Amino acid sequence: MAVPSTSYALWQETLEYLSRSDGTVLLLGASDTGKTTFARLLLNRWAVMGRTSAFLDADIGQSEVGPPGTIGMAYVTKPLETFAALVPEGLAFVGTTMPMGNLLEIVTGVKRLAERAQGHPQVVDTGGFIQGAGAQRLAVALAVLLQPAHIVGLQRAGELEPILRLLRGAHWEVHTPGVPEEIGRKTPFFRAQRRSLRFAAYFYEATLQTYSFRKVPLLGTWLGCGTPLPAHLLRFVRSTLETETRVFYAETFAGRLCLMTDKVLPPHSPGISVIQRQLRVSGVVMTRAPRLKHLLIGLEEAEGQLLGMGLLEAIDFRRGELGILSPVKVPSAVERIRFGRFRVTPEGKELGLLRGEKI
Ligand SMILES: Nc1ncnc2c1ncn2[C@@H]1O[C@H](COP(=O)(O)OP(=O)(O)OP(=O)(O)O)[C@@H](O)[C@H]1O
Ligand SMILES: [Mg+2]
Repeated sequence: MAVPSTSYALWQETLEYLSRSDGTVLLLGASDTGKTTFARLLLNRWAVMGRTSAFLDADIGQSEVGPPGTIGMAYVTKPLETFAALVPEGLAFVGTTMPMGNLLEIVTGVKRLAERAQGHPQVVDTGGFIQGAGAQRLAVALAVLLQPAHIVGLQRAGELEPILRLLRGAHWEVHTPGVPEEIGRKTPFFRAQRRSLRFAAYFYEATLQTYSFRKVPLLGTWLGCGTPLPAHLLRFVRSTLETETRVFYAETFAGRLCLMTDKVLPPHSPGISVIQRQLRVSGVVMTRAPRLKHLLIGLEEAEGQLLGMGLLEAIDFRRGELGILSPVKVPSAVERIRFGRFRVTPEGKELGLLRGEKI
């Protein structure tokens, strides 16, 4: 987004100091405290000094590098007015637009991309997730893993202190230069609209691709991880639950029976108890198959590099195949398929999070 050029006087001293230092700069702060603007100004200073720097975009909602739901890394060689022209050098899949429940994917993604950009000054931009125990765990994990030389905490009224007090006293320097008054606020509507446009642009040239979940391992779901239930037992399960739900597919995994159904039944419903006893499983996991439509999917190489995102459009249980809409150019390079937890249509309409649902 183009912003009028102003002086950001409050930041000049810190920017000057950081531009002359080496090592990683980690940015923390609530939404709309100017993290991304600060990152751009620092990257621009490095560019003017003739240094190639790396921008690590760990904001999975208001992403600048790569689509929402991913962490992106791009090199910066010349001053930027906006991030629009940056070409991602590497991406990592998180699969939602909110950090909670996905901290592991965020920290591993950021760490891997930071390693990739080793040797360049780096600035790590984060989202505005600062409240609560999860936010504290994420901030500390990022600092401990990245070992930044500097942490810049942007706050208006001490709201970042619960996190900053966990980070002070280490070898990194903590800076709190404040929030210049020219930094404005984005409405929730503007944020949602921006995500939606970025999703739509990303899937604009996607094609429908088929992946066998018997050949390519899946992560983030039980599907394809266990042993398909033999046909006679599947018939038994279907007839037992006949009046309550349709059963599309079943696997046993980790001692439990996992079912793809069109309804989720309460755990103590009579049919479930019968099945549990007869099949001698420790529990029954039910996944509403229709809820998986338009799920964000990460198509990865074995080492974690994201080849591209996809949307789960169909599952052919009989053939063991997933129909995935994706702009990935070489489907044969996909070595792992990671299920996200967020649903969005190819046109960018957000359908929300699979909160608390087993997948
Ligand atoms: N000089 C300026 N004049 C007007 N608006 C500005 C100026 N500089 C920044 N802004 C606006 O201030 C808002 C917040 O800035 P920025 O996006 O950098 O904050 P952020 O902390 O990264 O927010 P988020 O939590 O969404 O990532 C943005 O909408 C940005 O365009
Ligand atoms: Mg930002």
